[in-house]
Amino acid sequence: MSIGVFDSGIGGLSVHHALVRRIPGADFVYLADQANTPYGGRRGEEIVALTRAGCERLFEGGCDLVVLACNTAAAVALRRLQQTWLPAYRRELGRAVNVLGIIVPTIEAATGLPWTHEARDRGEKIEHLDVLGIFSTPATAASRVYEIEIDKRRGDVAVFSQACGTLARDIEAGAAEGELRAAVEGHVRALTRRIGRPPDRAILGCTHYEIIADLFRAALPPATPLVHQPDATAAAIERYLARHPEYDPGAGGRRDFLTTGRPGAQNGLIERFWGAPLHFDAA
Ligand code: DGL
Repeated sequence: MSIGVFDSGIGGLSVHHALVRRIPGADFVYLADQANTPYGGRRGEEIVALTRAGCERLFEGGCDLVVLACNTAAAVALRRLQQTWLPAYRRELGRAVNVLGIIVPTIEAATGLPWTHEARDRGEKIEHLDVLGIFSTPATAASRVYEIEIDKRRGDVAVFSQACGTLARDIEAGAAEGELRAAVEGHVRALTRRIGRPPDRAILGCTHYEIIADLFRAALPPATPLVHQPDATAAAIERYLARHPEYDPGAGGRRDFLTTGRPGAQNGLIERFWGAPLHFDAA
């Protein structure tokens, strides 16, 4: 089978990396919407339209499943697309295609509960409050998806989101490490000030931030564990495939990298993360 991995840019490669390790036999097509990156400061309707166009490009190229490796697209567009577009599009295409996101697996990992867990008992006594810090784009923070979905399931987890301004754009543009370090330190300080102490756990809730996870790691106290979104997502997709035998991962192992932006090599930050030069073809 062919699995499409979609992001506004290079950030989703952090999820792609984890997926390829777990499901090596599948073919993967990575699509970066670099003509329209970043998504994090865009209006909801634009994010929905761009995400839909990206999914269509991947399905028309033969993908069976698309993973939205972008918190912003998943937070703002996924439910809308699943409810209002996908059923008719499937009929038009005549194939059982699907779109999955990265927020559900991340929330499952952060709460330790399956997505289908019944709503929590609101009268429960809370002995210890676990403070979870989430670094994300402004659009993901404004959606409040992590706050709402975690609060439905766990009364003892308090979520504080930190919108990290232009950080995804700066990573995409290959900004100098010193500049990124200063920005990350500023966001960690701002979140710590708002909570009144460092978070007990943290999530890099924008796939671009995983590329510079070492800078977040250095800015956060050593005792603050990070919930690893790419691993949580890859494990969830692997379980999804096991439950859906109609999707056979196969043994092709083909890897394609496409961009709506300028084809060619990518920046040094992502190539260091990836461990080799990366070449993107025109989408
Ligand atoms: N990498 C994306 C995310 O996970 C989007 C970043 C952006 O385009 O602003 O949110």
